[in-house]
Amino acid sequence: MDHFQLKDGVLHAENVALPAIAEQVGTPVYVYSRATLERHARVFREGLKDAGKIHLAFAVKSNPNLAVLKILANQGYGADVVSGGELERALAAGMKAEDIVFSGVGKSSAELMLGLDKGIGQFNLESEEEGQMLAEIAAARGEQAPATLRVNPDVDAGTHAKISTGKAENKFGVAIDVAPDIFARLSKLDGLNLRGVAVHIGSQLQKLDPLEKCYTRMGQLVSDLRAAGHTITHVDLGGGLGVPYKPEESPPSPADYGAMIARVTQGWDVTLMFEPGRVIAGNSGVMMTQVIRIKPGVNSDFVIVDAAMNDLMRPAIYDAWHHFEAVRPTGETMTASIVGPICESSDIFAKERDVDRVQTDDFGIFRTAGAYGATMANTYNSRPLVPEVLVDGNKFAVVAERIEPATIMAAEHVPDWLK
Ligand code: LLP
Repeated sequence: MDHFQLKDGVLHAENVALPAIAEQVGTPVYVYSRATLERHARVFREGLKDAGKIHLAFAVKSNPNLAVLKILANQGYGADVVSGGELERALAAGMKAEDIVFSGVGKSSAELMLGLDKGIGQFNLESEEEGQMLAEIAAARGEQAPATLRVNPDVDAGTHAKISTGKAENKFGVAIDVAPDIFARLSKLDGLNLRGVAVHIGSQLQKLDPLEKCYTRMGQLVSDLRAAGHTITHVDLGGGLGVPYKPEESPPSPADYGAMIARVTQGWDVTLMFEPGRVIAGNSGVMMTQVIRIKPGVNSDFVIVDAAMNDLMRPAIYDAWHHFEAVRPTGETMTASIVGPICESSDIFAKERDVDRVQTDDFGIFRTAGAYGATMANTYNSRPLVPEVLVDGNKFAVVAERIEPATIMAAEHVPDWLK
């Protein structure tokens, strides 16, 4: 459920008519709903009510906007971060250091140091080598870094290949069959408090079966590690729950997910940690755009909009579907390809799709753009960096400004020897 609905024939975000935002901020623009973010945060937590002791760490990569992070901090969420930059953001948004988990396959020594400086709650180690590096840095400071070992369970998540992370050939974690040996060696190091294991097999999962298979393997690993004399107090189950991008899709609900977790992890006696991103932020945001003009095509018309692949990259890189709707729908439809102004054929949001009929200057939205939307935007073709707006009831605020090419050019320099 989200708060982007028609009222008197006009799409609103909560109680704000979307054209009011377009008038004031311009387009393209991301619009987030505070009520939807809060609702999703609550529903995810409630889904896990029978899962025992839990720790929720919002996957910052899905939407790192400070205002969004602040909302989640207020909901009692910590953060799953994958870079020093994300770590700084989570802290700046008011998340407590001890609620922050540092994931990521290539943490540098500077980033490990930063995590220790800030006193974060946990490092999820992606390799034995990273564990050794962290142990060395922590021991030199007379500290013990809290850590888990990320395991690659060799499970096919059944999602897009580019967002699958738990197959043996993927770069993430250590293979499950060698995990006990690596765990044993790392647990002897003075600088580490190796207290558990972590896993994450992919994103936008449409079924619970791969997750159940993965978690069952993790349960066996926890038993094996305990049998070998290790103390296991934390298991990080990652993120990955999918969201509906098309109206007819119905991925598992947080309640279904939570029921499976409660069943599979019964008796583990650990703190279960979660790193949800998309399921919280996805349907909490839309990207609004304006039609520049309509151009006839061979198979169908092209609706050329002022948003492009640089603003929302998912269709171009994952062939992702984002539902398009007119902000003032007339009830009529058209078959059209919705494209941006960028000089690439991959700059296409919808191919020969039946959509609400729109005309030049009309506004439209792409739904389910709150996760992996603005965060992946860039300035290709020297376009501005897309702004973000947060709606709360009948008010709204710009929470990320449009960054104009002039600002970006100001950070570029032509060396004297070219002048
Ligand atoms: N934890 C780890 C270690 C991750 O790698 C990810 C996502 C998450 C948690 C959050 O997963 P979620 O709950 O959001 O599925 N850019 C892609 C998605 C990349 C996901 C990367 N890792 C997209 O637009 O679909």
